[in-house]
Amino acid sequence: MKHIKLANVKGGTGKTSIACSIAEYLHAIGKKIECHDYDNVASHFKMFIDESAIDPRPANPDFTITDTIGALTNDLLDLLSTDVEDSIIIVPCSCSDSDINTTLKFARNLKRLRVNFIVVINKVSGLSHSVAKAVKVREQFRSIDIPVSDYFLPYTPSIENIASGSILRNNGFKHALEAILLEVTNG
Ligand SMILES: Nc1ncnc2c1ncn2[C@@H]1O[C@H](COP(=O)(O)OP(=O)(O)OP(=O)(O)O)[C@@H](O)[C@H]1O
Ligand SMILES: [Mg+2]
Repeated sequence: MKHIKLANVKGGTGKTSIACSIAEYLHAIGKKIECHDYDNVASHFKMFIDESAIDPRPANPDFTITDTIGALTNDLLDLLSTDVEDSIIIVPCSCSDSDINTTLKFARNLKRLRVNFIVVINKVSGLSHSVAKAVKVREQFRSIDIPVSDYFLPYTPSIENIASGSILRNNGFKHALEAILLEVTNG
């Protein structure tokens, strides 16, 4: 069983949206997923699961998916330090300066914890300057040995309707998510 954990101490980077999309996607391709929401302040992931047809506690799950709070808490550190061998922490980050700066600090902490993680650049619009900026940010992280996905998640307005399960109808988002999941689960 593989554990997928969405984490970034910066709020609003896309943890919950991506947790919901991954849950929806893996469920759609027939994987059994166990869902956990560690964000007690805004339990949107739990709300999404409650409203969907996904059983959050199936027998013998293939994956667990955990959404977390956008703050550095002891609970978060405990969670990230558990089942380290079988876990991948997905760290969403947009190309805003504040996201980048906080994510750099958080990524350094994750390296010290010796956990498997990957930064995923989120909210990249299709405009050429936006893609160019994302490429630059990816290089900035990689130049200091911070793992970053090859793929960017596109800016997708319909993500606002996450509860209605509309994200995967956006092919650009779905394909990028598929590529990222292949990358982090080694196929
Ligand atoms: N790829 C995307 N395209 C467009 N909007 C996005 C995308 N990803 C996230 N958003 C939007 O950004 C906002 C923050 O996303 P989300 O709630 O998933 O972040 P979060 O990291 O879980 O935040 P928090 O730390 O508050 O829990 C939401 O309004 C969401 O709809
Ligand atoms: Mg959230």
